[in-house]
Amino acid sequence: MGRFSTRTSWETGESRYASAVRTARASGRRVYDLTVSNPTRCGFEYDAEAVLGPLRDARALVYDPDPRGMESAREAVARYYAGHGARVSADQLVLTTSTSESYSYLFRLLCDAGDEVLVAQPSYPLFNYLADLDDVRLRAYPLFYDHGWWTDFTELERAITPRTRAVIVVHPNNPTGHWTGTGERERLEALCARHGMALIVDEVFLDYSLRESTAARSFACGEHPTPTFVLSGLSKIVGLPQMKAAWIAAFGPVSERAEALGRLEIVADTFLSMNAPVQLAMASWLDGRAAIQAQILERARGNLAMLRRVAAESAGLLQVLEVEAGWSAVVGLAGCVGEVQCAERLARERGVIVHPGWFYGMGAERLVVVSLIAAAGEMEAGIRRAIE
Ligand SMILES: Cc1ncc(COP(=O)(O)O)c(C=O)c1O
Repeated sequence: MGRFSTRTSWETGESRYASAVRTARASGRRVYDLTVSNPTRCGFEYDAEAVLGPLRDARALVYDPDPRGMESAREAVARYYAGHGARVSADQLVLTTSTSESYSYLFRLLCDAGDEVLVAQPSYPLFNYLADLDDVRLRAYPLFYDHGWWTDFTELERAITPRTRAVIVVHPNNPTGHWTGTGERERLEALCARHGMALIVDEVFLDYSLRESTAARSFACGEHPTPTFVLSGLSKIVGLPQMKAAWIAAFGPVSERAEALGRLEIVADTFLSMNAPVQLAMASWLDGRAAIQAQILERARGNLAMLRRVAAESAGLLQVLEVEAGWSAVVGLAGCVGEVQCAERLARERGVIVHPGWFYGMGAERLVVVSLIAAAGEMEAGIRRAIE
C-alpha cells in the first residue's frame, strides 16, 4: 500500500507457532507456560509501599526537565555502578524510558540511513524492529557453542564493511546466558578501535549470575579505547518493567565521549520522554534492589538446578546448554524432530509453551528457550511433560 512507509511494511500474519500457542490456550486443556518472563507476574513479593510510596514525591508537582534526566536519578545510577566497582559520574549518563529507546537514540547518534550495526546470533530478537525503525541495517555475527558460547571473531571481522558503525554485545547474552569474558572484550575493543566502530553493551541481566562464585564484570569497569555505550534499566535490575526507566552510560576517549554526550543530550531534549515521578523514585528503587533480586536469583538458580536434574535422569532426551547468567536457558529436546517445528508441536500436542530457537536466530530445530523465572512447580511439570 503506497500510503505507508516501507520501513513499517512488516509481515504481520500469525506464524504457525503463534497459532499453535493460541489454540493451546483456548482449548481449555492444561497449559504449561515456560516462557513467562514478566517478573510482575511470576509470584515474587513486591513491597507495595517501597514501590509506590516514592512516586508521591511533591517535587513532581513542578515541571523542571533536564534532557539527560534528573541529577538525583543519574546519581543513583552512578551509585549502582560504584557497587559494581566502576567509576561512573552522573555526567556520563542519559536516562531513557526503556533500553529499546536507548538503542534507538544510539542508532540515531551513530548511524545514517543504510549504515550497519553488527549483532550476535543467537541474541535478543527485538533488534530487527529497532533497526528497521531507524533505517539501520543489522548484520549478524555468529556465536558458536562448545562447552559454552563463544564469539566467532573470523566471521565477525568478515561482516565488517565500510558502513559498519557499531557492534552490539549483550552481556550476559539473552537467551544463551553467557558472559563476554575479558579476553573477548579486549579483542572486541581492539577491533572496534581499528575499524572506527562504537561498542554498544546491553547489561540488563548483569546482576543475575547463576553461579554463586562468578562475579560479573561490567563493561563500565576498566579502560575504554573505543566509544562505548553501556545500557541497562529498571525492568530487570529492580524487576519493574512497568516503570519505564533505563539509561545509557557513555565511555571512551574523552573528546569523543563529550561529543557523543552533547549530541545525545539534543536527541533526548527533542523527546523529553522521562516523567518526573519515576525519576524521583529511581534512587529509592535502585538502592533497595537487593530484596527483589534475591527472590529472582533464588528462583532462577532453583529452576536451573531442576532442569539439570531432570536432564541427568532423561537418558539424553533433555540437554541443558551451559548457562552462566540471566533469566533464560537454552535446552535441547532430542526427541523433538520432524516435519513440524519442535516448539509448535509441543504447544499443539502437549500444551507446553516454549520459545522456538529461531526466535533468537538459532538454527538447530531441537533447541528451544525456556524462562528460568517461571514458577518452579509449573517449570518442572512442563519440562517433564515435554520429554514424556
Ligand atoms: C537483552 C535485552 N535488552 C533489553 C530488554 C528490554 O529492556 P527494557 O524493558 O528496558 O526495554 C530485554 C528484555 O527482555 C532484553 O532481553
